[in-house]
Amino acid sequence: MTNINTLSHDTAGHPTHELALSILEGLSSSPKFLPSRLFYDDKGSDLFTQIMALEEYYPTRCETEILTDHAEAIASYLGSDSFNLVELGCGDGAKTIILLNELLKKKTNFNYVPLDISKAAIEFLVENLKKEYGKIPFQVEGLVAEYFQGLSWLTANASKKNMVMFLGGNIGNMNRAMSMRFLRHLWHSLNDGDVVLIGFDLKKDLDVLYNAYNDSKGITKEFNFNVLDRINETLDGNFDRSKFQHQGLYNIQTGAMESYLISQEAQKVRIGELDKEFSFKPWEALHLEYSYKYLKSDIEELASSTGFEIKDNFTDKQNYFVDSLWQVKK
Ligand code: AVI
Repeated sequence: MTNINTLSHDTAGHPTHELALSILEGLSSSPKFLPSRLFYDDKGSDLFTQIMALEEYYPTRCETEILTDHAEAIASYLGSDSFNLVELGCGDGAKTIILLNELLKKKTNFNYVPLDISKAAIEFLVENLKKEYGKIPFQVEGLVAEYFQGLSWLTANASKKNMVMFLGGNIGNMNRAMSMRFLRHLWHSLNDGDVVLIGFDLKKDLDVLYNAYNDSKGITKEFNFNVLDRINETLDGNFDRSKFQHQGLYNIQTGAMESYLISQEAQKVRIGELDKEFSFKPWEALHLEYSYKYLKSDIEELASSTGFEIKDNFTDKQNYFVDSLWQVKK
């Protein structure tokens, strides 16, 4: 059976207006930046799917390998009682299906709970599950909500054990302070003994990193330029793509891949919705994204300082990526 519950969320504040304000903040700052949530409109999500299929973008390949090779070990942490398998932010489900199949093989009794702010994303996922299985052989309880609102609702409404998956290395797009805040919030929303499976991209050879974020087909470049198109379309902007150059760089001090669009000449960009013009100097950088890379010791520190105990680390053969399994300690 498939249900989709929508939790009402605070709709105060017009979303387009909110976006315009964060763009005003970013373009008025020095150095300039744009909020990375601008990446994921329909076109951006499609481009990200294409990035995940690239040979150079190793994280998807590595995490698929991890889930395939360690599905049985991961499933062993879930016990035999009925539980919720919660996925924060659902993609097409391709990686999750590996784990779902293992649980089916073990005849485990579980509810799969994809949790996303977008109802369309959950419907897309359910369609993919139908393509995979025909009649879906487990209970799907989609939840349309903000992550923590959804998790609190779930733990307040059910006494079942939860396993929360936050895959794909999404935590890397948060800085240290944001990830601490996120994980502590996660800890608060869960019960003692619940488990989480979090994907972390590990520090590695710099050429491998560089190529993953500056791919030869130019899809990552397009993914970044799409942000400018989005501002032009939704906020009446006049960014001219041809006057910017994309560059993904590894910051050796912070340990993050950083994405920039660099203005190739002095120029002014007008954003109609803000009734404002922004000046770029020649070669001025516009920052779009951080993608932090981790050491295993960073992961240990993060877990212990936010109230979790690491039960296992599952890595791929190249040691590029880790799915870390943590348990909530209260
Ligand atoms: C979604 N996130 C984990 C990706 C990453 O690798 O940081 C986003 C991305 N940006 C460029 N390529 C992929």
